[in-house]
Amino acid sequence: MQSAYITDATVDGIFWPNLRMKLMDQWTRIIQNFDQYASPLRPSQEDVSLYKAQLKPDDRVLLLGITSELIPLATVLVDHNPKLIEQLQSPQAVLGDWSDLPFQSEFDAVIGDGVLTVFQGTLVHFFEQVRKVLRKGGSMTLRLYISPETKEDYEDVLRTKKKTGFHAFKWRVAQVLANPYIRVKDLYNAVLPVWDHPTLQFYQDSDLVYYFPKLSELPAYDQIQFPSSYDLAERCPVVTWRNYIQTT
Ligand SMILES: C[S@@+](CC[C@H](N)C(=O)[O-])C[C@H]1O[C@@H](n2cnc3c(N)ncnc32)[C@H](O)[C@@H]1O
Repeated sequence: MQSAYITDATVDGIFWPNLRMKLMDQWTRIIQNFDQYASPLRPSQEDVSLYKAQLKPDDRVLLLGITSELIPLATVLVDHNPKLIEQLQSPQAVLGDWSDLPFQSEFDAVIGDGVLTVFQGTLVHFFEQVRKVLRKGGSMTLRLYISPETKEDYEDVLRTKKKTGFHAFKWRVAQVLANPYIRVKDLYNAVLPVWDHPTLQFYQDSDLVYYFPKLSELPAYDQIQFPSSYDLAERCPVVTWRNYIQTT
C-alpha cells in the first residue's frame, strides 16, 4: 500500500535522510520524557504477555526500536537514534534503521510497538526488511494503532475530551483525521486548541507522517489479540504475521 505522498525516497517532499534526523530529534525528546507516557502510547504488562505468547523460549528475537517494556523479550534491538543507543549501554543494542536493517536471516521473530505508525516509508518496504532478517519459519508480532473500519464523526471525537486519557484522545483525533496518513504537525494543530497537554510540544514543527491503517488494509495476519486494560485498547491489537512473511 502506498500513500499518495510517500515514495521510496521522500516523505511529503522531504528527502528521507533529512527526515530521519528530524525523527531522531523528536524521539530523543519523547523518550527522555517517557515517564509522562502511559498506555496506549506504551505497551502494558498485559500487552507484554500477548507478545510472549507468540514467542518460543529460545527464539532469537529482534526488537525494532527502544521500547523498554519489550527489551527483556529481545536478543537484539535496533534503533536509529545514537543518543538512545549510547544511553542504553547494552551489547544487545544496535544502531540501525528499520528501512535498511543490518541483518540477514538471523532471527526467529521480529517484535515492535507502534512501529508501523511511526515508520517513514511504505508498508511494502517495511515487510521486505523484516523478511530479510527472519530465518525460514519466522514471525513478526507488532502492537498496532489501527483506525476504526467506519470513520467517526470529528465533532463526536472532540467531545470525548477528558472522558479518556490525553494520549487515547490524541490517537482518536489522529485516527479520525488520518487518510490513513496524517502529518504529525497537523495532529498538533488539531489537538492544541482542544487539549494543550505538556507532551504535545514534542509534535510542534514535526515533519513526520504517522500511519493509522484500518485492519482491513493490512496484509493477511495469522493471529490477533486485543488487550483490554487501558483506554483505546480495542484499537491497539497485538498482531502476528507468519504465512504472509513466508509466502511473498
Ligand atoms: C518503537 S517506536 C514507538 C514507541 C511508542 N509505542 C509510541 O508509539 O510512541 C519508538 C522508537 O523507535 C525508534 N525509531 C523510529 N523510527 C525508526 C527507524 N526507522 N529505524 C530505527 N529506529 C526507529 C525511535 O528512535 C524510538 O526510540
